[in-house]
Amino acid sequence: MTKGLRLGNDSQTLVLGIETTCDETAAAVVARDSDGKGKILSNVVRSQTDEHAIYGGVVPEIAARAHVDMLDHLIDAAMREAGIDYAALGGVAAAAGPGLIGGVIVGLTTAKAIALVHGTPLIAVNHLEAHALTPRLTDAIDFPYCLFLASGGHTQIVAVAGVGDYIRLGTTVDDAMGEAFDKVAKMLGLPYPGGPQVEQAARNGDASRFAFPRPMQGRSDANFSLSGLKTAVRNEIGRLESISAQDTADLCASFQAAVLESTADRLRVGLELFKQRFGAPTALVAAGGVAANQAIRGALDDVAGKAGTRLIMPPPALCTDNGAMIAWAGAERLALGMTDGMDAAPRARWLLDANAQVPGKFANTRAGF
Ligand code: KG4
Ligand code: ZN
Repeated sequence: MTKGLRLGNDSQTLVLGIETTCDETAAAVVARDSDGKGKILSNVVRSQTDEHAIYGGVVPEIAARAHVDMLDHLIDAAMREAGIDYAALGGVAAAAGPGLIGGVIVGLTTAKAIALVHGTPLIAVNHLEAHALTPRLTDAIDFPYCLFLASGGHTQIVAVAGVGDYIRLGTTVDDAMGEAFDKVAKMLGLPYPGGPQVEQAARNGDASRFAFPRPMQGRSDANFSLSGLKTAVRNEIGRLESISAQDTADLCASFQAAVLESTADRLRVGLELFKQRFGAPTALVAAGGVAANQAIRGALDDVAGKAGTRLIMPPPALCTDNGAMIAWAGAERLALGMTDGMDAAPRARWLLDANAQVPGKFANTRAGF
């Protein structure tokens, strides 16, 4: 039995969620009805972007220290905003990986302390699972659905068949998609994080000026590759004597067009693989920071339509890293009795599907996230 609040006739379970795997410190409280409907009672996020910007990327040690400094205050704020005290919690969930290990330890240890002191069940959540289950919080969709997750650390196509039941249909064999956007931005002297900068510059650019490769296009698997494309951009920059604003815009537009076409092709194959194994998906769901890109949204809409399904995108604040997604994944697991002990380990790497379906040679790349 889980503790819970009784509101009207519906029994609700309240879960606190903690996220510290990368450069966002976040805490949130969600409520889950016994019929599976969810509600966000608070969702507090503090991004560390400014601390890392001068280094052009996330510095793990700085991230871990910032989590230590901020987390207690954020949890306090999330509890106050939700208007509850710890005794009302049915569970406390923390992202236990994959991610930067220092940050993961901070979040998981804090969750364990709360669980111990208040006698609350602990749920050690896989951060990727939390992204994967978010559309059930925002749109109450049923299983099975097809998830496209593209962020600074992950690029995956995943069949979401149930809570704890994920089959990875495709992954990047080298760089993550957001990472490629960030690296291209850096080459062009644009600030971190580069994705929004590249998207902005691309609006004024000629996408046909540079003929960049469309990686993996036409392959029968649903994997991605971004590093060759990034190298092609670097080579093109090397050929130009100086880079004008128009050159930057044209390079960004041409790079983004190549990413879009490659993504559309990879997702088309991914959705075909999905249908062969699970039948029609209830939706194509996009999550992760890259999904904030308007041009990519357009391309995904088109792919979903052609595959006879619909595109669902949680609002941007729930696509990027946040505490509500961790709390929600915790609530979904808790409802099925899937709780963890005090020996739950923080994990730098944690595959979403233990029996990865992609070829073994990719298992040790960062695709293993
Ligand atoms: O999901 P997220 O906030 O954090 C994690 O990496 O987990 O994703 C951040 C990534 C960064 O690489 C950023 O450059 C990219 O998402 N990104 C974008 C856009 N907005 C953020 N990439 C392309 N276009 C965008 N508009
Ligand atoms: Zn994430």
